[in-house]
Amino acid sequence: MNEILQQTAFFVKEKLQNAEAGHDWSHTERVWKLAKQIASTEICNQDVVELAALLHDIADPKFHHGDETAALKIANEFLSGREVSSEIIDQILFIIQHQSFKNRKEIPSEIPIEMKIVQDADRLDAMGAIGIARAFHFGGFKNNPLYDPEILPKMNMTKEEYKKSAGTTINHFHEKLLLLKDLLHTQKAKNMAEVRHAFMLHFLEQFLKEWNGEI
Ligand code: ADP
Ligand code: NI
Repeated sequence: MNEILQQTAFFVKEKLQNAEAGHDWSHTERVWKLAKQIASTEICNQDVVELAALLHDIADPKFHHGDETAALKIANEFLSGREVSSEIIDQILFIIQHQSFKNRKEIPSEIPIEMKIVQDADRLDAMGAIGIARAFHFGGFKNNPLYDPEILPKMNMTKEEYKKSAGTTINHFHEKLLLLKDLLHTQKAKNMAEVRHAFMLHFLEQFLKEWNGEI
């Protein structure tokens, strides 16, 4: 399995060479490491966790003409050509299909521990200093404003409303980043999230003080 993991890492690294920085190889590598750490504290199939972590962002629909199935196709094709049982492939594809924050309402209530681990690792990487950097990078890519006191945080916006609101990056903290700690499944991830969450709160506090010229 070690060899398959190395081959997968190599394949994903190649594939993500020109990906935008929010979902590039370094994101995948961080999620892989975090997933391994969390897996070591849970009873789970470590191979499924590692392969799913490696393949989870292989094709972002945003960059595949909105095709939600692109990642599944690529992962399936890659794994089918290797010594991985069809049972394991199915588990991995299930995780890739459902792990996104955006899809969280469509997830069946009983989800496998391997998926919980990959999801937690992916969510940890959207928090803390890295999460802040990724958010402002994304906002820059979209040419969104940093902050607008007029745009109040609004939860559960429809896609259309969101597009119109020209969401600011600070707003994204309220729509998503500050909610992540309560969506985590595993104890290990919850522990790791504490520092990351506190760091984001501290950042927001300082940001608003500077915005208002208070310090
Ligand atoms: P996921 O793959 O978990 O569904 P996304 O593709 O939505 O996540 O987000 C990838 C990265 O970009 C994350 O770090 C996320 O916080 C950030 N991001 C997504 N939407 C926005 C936004 N509107 N403003 C700022 N950052 C964003
Ligand atoms: Ni991801």
